[in-house]
Amino acid sequence: MLWILKYFFEIVRTGIFLLVTGCRGPSGFGSASTAEEVTEGIDASGLTVIVTGGASGLGLETARVLALRGAHVIIAARNLRAAEDAKNSILEQCRTANVDVLKLDLCSIQSVRSFVESFKALDLPLNILINNAGVMFCPFQLSEDGIEAQFATNHIGHFLLTELLLDKMKYTARVTGIEGRIVNLSSLAHAHTYKNGIEFDKINDQRSYEDKKAYGQSKLANILHANELSRRLKEEGANITVNSVHPGLIMTDLMRHSVTLMSKLN
Ligand SMILES: NC(=O)c1ccc[n+]([C@@H]2O[C@H](COP(=O)([O-])OP(=O)(O)OC[C@H]3O[C@@H](n4cnc5c(N)ncnc54)[C@H](OP(=O)(O)O)[C@@H]3O)[C@@H](O)[C@H]2O)c1
Repeated sequence: MLWILKYFFEIVRTGIFLLVTGCRGPSGFGSASTAEEVTEGIDASGLTVIVTGGASGLGLETARVLALRGAHVIIAARNLRAAEDAKNSILEQCRTANVDVLKLDLCSIQSVRSFVESFKALDLPLNILINNAGVMFCPFQLSEDGIEAQFATNHIGHFLLTELLLDKMKYTARVTGIEGRIVNLSSLAHAHTYKNGIEFDKINDQRSYEDKKAYGQSKLANILHANELSRRLKEEGANITVNSVHPGLIMTDLMRHSVTLMSKLN
């Protein structure tokens, strides 16, 4: 009997209950709320936002709704054709939307650096950075920099991107007086990682690689990154918040390496 109560408490504590039932939480919104509902009445004009992986899935919906609310949205994507299609689909729905597309492959350190150079050349402010792009459960693969692909894409690429854009975000927050926001898309999967959490000595070790735990490891890194950066920015007095979120369970192309999850899509 006690274990049932413990199990129930765990489901409520971790938010799974609210996630599955769609019940509204203290914010007044729940997992069934749409991005349009959550942002209703918000005027985002004057804000510049970068959304990584903004050409599809959750990133595209985020880009679409932020553009709808008036923000200048930069879709950062590795597939420029898909990003242009995404931009056009947003413009079809909202002719006044301000959307630009820039090339970013998070799996390449060189590409992250080039993206930041191109963005800085536009001489725009930067209010919001949404570290959304991700891959899940891929077979073992090393990036061009020799880093396991899930860790490289989900964490290292976003970590470097954030570091390189931080001065711009601090400057924007200082001169405008508007709080900057950094959001890392993480996952409940962060709890299902290797025994030691992040296996720093084995990140690129093919023999001990397990696709699901490697995903969990990269998502744990997203959370630790957000927590530590948030602490440092607070200590420094920078007017920028950093949060990580689990977005819920949404059937997107993210599931492409999971036979079980893909079968739910078809
Ligand atoms: N969907 C869910 O249920 C769920 C649950 C928990 C967490 N999340 C998190 O939410 C985020 C978005 O997921 P999603 O469901 O929207 O997935 P998705 O539909 O597969 O979208 C992911 C996006 O990331 C891009 N991307 C992948 N590798 C990249 C790279 N190396 N450089 C630049 N962009 C890259 C993809 O571009 P390509 O099309 O070129 O691959 C795609 O546009 C991820 O971080 C994921 O871990 C999702």
